[in-house]
Amino acid sequence: MSEPHRGRPDGGRAITGSGRSAAESRPPTPSRGASADAVLIGDAMTGGYGRGADILHECTISVDAGEIAVIVGPNGAGKSTAMKAVFGMLDLRQGAVRLKGEDITALKPQERVAKGMAFVPQTANVFTSLTVEENLEMGAFLRRDDIRRTMEQVYDLFPILRDKRRQPAGELSGGQRQQVAVGRALMTEPEVLMLDEPTAGVSPIVMDELFDRIIEVARTGISILMVEQNARQALSIADTGFVLVQGANAFTGTGKELLADPDVRKSFLGG
Ligand SMILES: Nc1ncnc2c1ncn2[C@@H]1O[C@H](COP(=O)(O)OP(=O)(O)OP(=O)(O)O)[C@@H](O)[C@H]1O
Ligand SMILES: [Mg+2]
Repeated sequence: MSEPHRGRPDGGRAITGSGRSAAESRPPTPSRGASADAVLIGDAMTGGYGRGADILHECTISVDAGEIAVIVGPNGAGKSTAMKAVFGMLDLRQGAVRLKGEDITALKPQERVAKGMAFVPQTANVFTSLTVEENLEMGAFLRRDDIRRTMEQVYDLFPILRDKRRQPAGELSGGQRQQVAVGRALMTEPEVLMLDEPTAGVSPIVMDELFDRIIEVARTGISILMVEQNARQALSIADTGFVLVQGANAFTGTGKELLADPDVRKSFLGG
């Protein structure tokens, strides 16, 4: 388990706007806003779906060890595409993905899972006809060791899932299904957990609850890279925030910096 290190010696990286300032003329690696000690980085990613037009334009997202990084931005900005690119579900035309310094750009998603990554996609993230427990077992398909202990940890994190473990996931509420999805991802004992809109379609109370659980996961040393539509709440728990617009980085900073930035507030946080 790695030691979470909140607060950085350089006093926090500066907010970086899309318009390149003088400070931006430094070499592009590591790219805008991403720190050198990122456990996972999608670095200057350019690419799209199949032979279609590029959706991502030198887009960089990353997360440091034991931290929470949050990606926000308008609908269609390319947030999910950036996550898929980092997980290997999209061929990049340019850029690279590195996990703990290793270039994993050419690896398939399941090879990335074997290296310690887990991904909860935005949609279709549970098997609705399988029970809660079967969903968790599916999450552990790559493991050959005893998964019981991890399953108990997931049930401790989300007690409602223990109660409903024999029930088909399709019968659960939206918030409970999201817990199944996160729990399934945790079953591989990942070092980095990627979540695409884990609080989509849940009530504000359930959202707060899920955020608390995500913070709890981060405290165990698992790095979290997550897309969130609830930008304000998400940035308030983020060590680092990335604002994406039209497939490119618009702003990058600590969650606090972004929440305090007048341009970010005006454009993305409703004032
Ligand atoms: N499978 C796909 N094939 C082709 N184009 C796609 C595909 N998925 C998304 N796109 C396009 O990529 C662009 C970015 O979509 P993406 O889903 O990444 O945005 P997003 O920021 O996650 O939006 P949202 O907030 O609605 O989830 C959009 O123009 C979308 O139409
Ligand atoms: Mg999306």
